[in-house]
Amino acid sequence: MREELERLKTDALNNISEADSLQALEQIRVQTLGKKGALTQLLRGLGKVSAEERPALGVLANEIKTAFNASLAERRDILKASALNSKLADEALDISLPGRQPNEGGVHPITRALSEINAVFGRMGFEVATGPEIETDWFNFEALNIPPDHPAREMHDTFYLPTEPDEPKQVLRTHTSPVQIRVMENRQPPLRVIAPGKVFRCDSDITHTPMFHQVEGFAVDEDIHFGHLKGLLETFLIRFFERDLPVRFRPSFFPFTEPSAEVDMGCLFCNSKGCRICKGNGWLEVLGCGMIHPNVLTNVGIDKSRYSGYAFGMGVERLAMLKYGINDLRTFFENDTRFLSKYAVSGI
Ligand code: DAH
Repeated sequence: MREELERLKTDALNNISEADSLQALEQIRVQTLGKKGALTQLLRGLGKVSAEERPALGVLANEIKTAFNASLAERRDILKASALNSKLADEALDISLPGRQPNEGGVHPITRALSEINAVFGRMGFEVATGPEIETDWFNFEALNIPPDHPAREMHDTFYLPTEPDEPKQVLRTHTSPVQIRVMENRQPPLRVIAPGKVFRCDSDITHTPMFHQVEGFAVDEDIHFGHLKGLLETFLIRFFERDLPVRFRPSFFPFTEPSAEVDMGCLFCNSKGCRICKGNGWLEVLGCGMIHPNVLTNVGIDKSRYSGYAFGMGVERLAMLKYGINDLRTFFENDTRFLSKYAVSGI
């Protein structure tokens, strides 16, 4: 009996150390300690052993059982660890691989410029007004002192909408100045308004797109004079471009303002020294402006002997190109995601 026990011990421990899977290990356990297991059988036979031998054999059998269980547990741990390692190796994960970047949305540079322009004028007390993109001849031209045969109409390559001969002519607005008329027709001074929006001209080349954006602005009140306009636009340009800049006003012509001026600012790219972008003269033309023509005030029913006003208009694409360093106008509207991800900002 003793030899049988010893042999069983050696065999079982050998089998455990050779078991190469958790299933094999479980099989050894059942074969040894299960109901019909070899050790269980031997222990059952203990009853037949003589009373003198029984205690010593009992102790031995228990020692074997303890050693067997301990070695089983140890081997189980080893097999579990190696199963985990091989699983990790199979499902190898390259943690040095760069992650996929989600395509983040952003604010288009035109929207960004518009909101920056709105913010600067907003802080100076201007409110925002909007008007329709399809306008009548009256709002787009006539009320702005541009009669039907006026040569200034040639400056605006107009998209006309098909209309019946007896209907008022309709156009895609060629500028945001008609919003001036709409506001002044409905309200009395004091007025301080900007009107951002899309405008349309039948023109398309490297420096023109058929749709672009403008911000019109105007103020009407008692005693408004050219000095107010100069101060306002100088302040606007310095705040919008976030740097000190020389600004100059050059006499010009617009039918709806008298006197009229074109506004230049010192070239941002060469500090007014002269470069390719300012065509060597150190100045960049950025907007048009003037004192609202008395005919326009009369057209909208504002008393020109009591009130005066100034107006200005600027191209948003041009300001955005200068501020953000974009050099091709067409890229604004091509929707190339490389352009958008370079110039779009994620929230303003
Ligand atoms: N409406 C003009 C244009 O589209 C821009 C402009 C110039 C607006 C002078 C004004 C102004 O109000 O005073 O070319």
